[in-house]
Order: sequence, then structure tokens, then C-alpha cells
Amino acid sequence: MTLELIEHAAAWRKALDAARARGQRVGLVPTMGALHAGHMSLIRKASAECDLVAVTDYVNPLQFGPSEDLASYPADLARDCELAAEAGAQVLFAPTTAELWPHAPTTSVRVEGLTEALEGSSRPGHFDGVATIVTKLFSLAGPCWAYFGEKDYQQLAVVRRMAADLSLPVEVIGCPIVRDPDGLALSSRNAYLTSDERQVAPHLYYALLAGKRAIEDDVVHDPEAVAEAMAASLAKQALFTLDYAEVTDPDDLTRPGRIEAEVRLLMAARIGRTRLIDNLSATPPTSTDS
Ligand code: PAJ
Repeated sequence: MTLELIEHAAAWRKALDAARARGQRVGLVPTMGALHAGHMSLIRKASAECDLVAVTDYVNPLQFGPSEDLASYPADLARDCELAAEAGAQVLFAPTTAELWPHAPTTSVRVEGLTEALEGSSRPGHFDGVATIVTKLFSLAGPCWAYFGEKDYQQLAVVRRMAADLSLPVEVIGCPIVRDPDGLALSSRNAYLTSDERQVAPHLYYALLAGKRAIEDDVVHDPEAVAEAMAASLAKQALFTLDYAEVTDPDDLTRPGRIEAEVRLLMAARIGRTRLIDNLSATPPTSTDS
């Protein structure tokens, strides 16, 4: 499978317009590069459902805080092109910041309500940066089906809401989390882990499983008690520092008064210099939800 690498915004827009003019359905997979099997699963799903799969590969400075890892974020464009092609992409857009923002942006997109808690409280401004770049990428891509991972569950909720609020001509599609065999969710940031940290890292997932067991097996209805069970599970691992453990409504990400239907369990924690996030769905046995 050959892949066309595009660096200029005008050429990118033209390529996607041409595909639509041929009657093709365009699948968009926005990424920050450093592709792994998680990104590839999004590309594969897009490839199964669309005629032309367009990947974007851009490390967006707007979504990084001043003390975050923008400068050290892993990058390997040649490998990204190989992996994207292998998963079924036909075009990959890798613009420079100067290409994308000829002058520094003065416009920002903010989704209120969904963005203040969880990641938003630990990473102020992060979701404004995400919403702004995703709006721009959607605008450059034109009408399309856009694939986002549940790995960044809050991001997926924010993008869905933003697309609906602004009537963007984009169908947002959520995709399941891809994990290593020991349960660790794949992330470009896993590359920062030392071998000791990597060994312990799956315990973030095990803590989520402890929350899921509390809901599904022990039928705990109190979200506070479930959040405490998740935090207590992770606290057994000295290398981890918990950022948050939350039980939320899967759509608006607020904590329910009582767990009576499907919820999303969300956690973030630091291990050494790396911050990891993960999440899991849980449904109480008495729920009528499927
Ligand atoms: P990035 O972290 O590169 O992720 C790109 C997409 O891959 C996101 O939709 C993310 O949720 C998904 N993804 C990452 N790891 C995954 C895994 N283990 N399983 C399934 N999907 C996974 O998210 C971003 O980039 C940026 O914020 C972006 C949306 C590109 C805006 O800059």
C-alpha cells in the first residue's frame, strides 16, 4: 500500500476534496505521531468503513502546558508513514507549525462543562488546545468520518460535543482501547517508562478492574466507595502517585449520585516522570442497560 505524504495545507485540502468529488467517503484519524498499535487500530477501523483514510501527524503545542513534554515528545515521521500505510491509510498530513499557523493563533475553541474536571483540572488549557487544533483539522479536512480512541475518553467526549455544538460536518467515531498483553493501555508516552516503571505500570489498569469488580461483582452503588477502592488498589504500588480516580456518567462525565446504570471509571497517575491515564466501562448487574 503506498502512502502520500503531504506537508502543505492547501494540498491536503485538495486531496480530500478530490476524494469526495470521486464519491469516496473520507476517514480522518488525527494523531500526534509516534504511532503504535492503538493508532493503527483507529486507522484499520477507518479503512474498513471508508474509501480514503487520511491520517494527521502533528504535535500540537497548544495542548501542552509549560512544564509538559512538548520538547521531548517522541517523533519518527518515516516510521509513522510505514505504520499508517500498513494499517490502510492513503494520505498522511504532517505540517510544520509555520505551515499550520502562519501567524500565532488568536482564536481558541473552548468546550465548557466537560473540560474543567479530570484532565482539565490537572492540565489547565489542555482541552482548549485540543478543541482548537481539532476544529482546525476538521476544517482543513472537510466533511468526513473522524476516528478517536476511548483511551482519551474525556477528549472523545469533548470532540463529540464540540462537533455537535458547532454543527461541524464530521461524524465522530469512538474506538476501543488497545492494550499490551499485561493490560497496560498503549500510549506514545509509555516510551518514557524505565523498565522498573514499565513492570508496575499495568497496575493502573488493575486498579480500574478493582473498581469494575466492586460495581459488577460486589454490587457497590456508592461512587465514592468505588473511587476509594480504585485509589486503594493503586496505593499499594509505591512508584505511583494518584492524580484522580473517578466514577462518572459515560456521557457528561459527572459523578452520579448512585451507580444504577453504566459508568466510566477514569484514572490518572504519575509514575516517575510519566503521567498515565486509563479508563474502563462498568455496568451494575441490576442495570437494564445492555
Ligand atoms: P494522540 O495521543 O497521538 O492520539 C491519537 C488518537 O489515538 C486519539 O484519538 C487517541 O485516543 C488514540 N489512541 C491513543 N492510544 C490509544 C490506544 N491505546 N487505544 C486506542 N486508541 C488510542 O489524542 C491526540 O493524539 C491529540 O490530542 C489529537 C486528537 C491528535 C489532537 O492534537
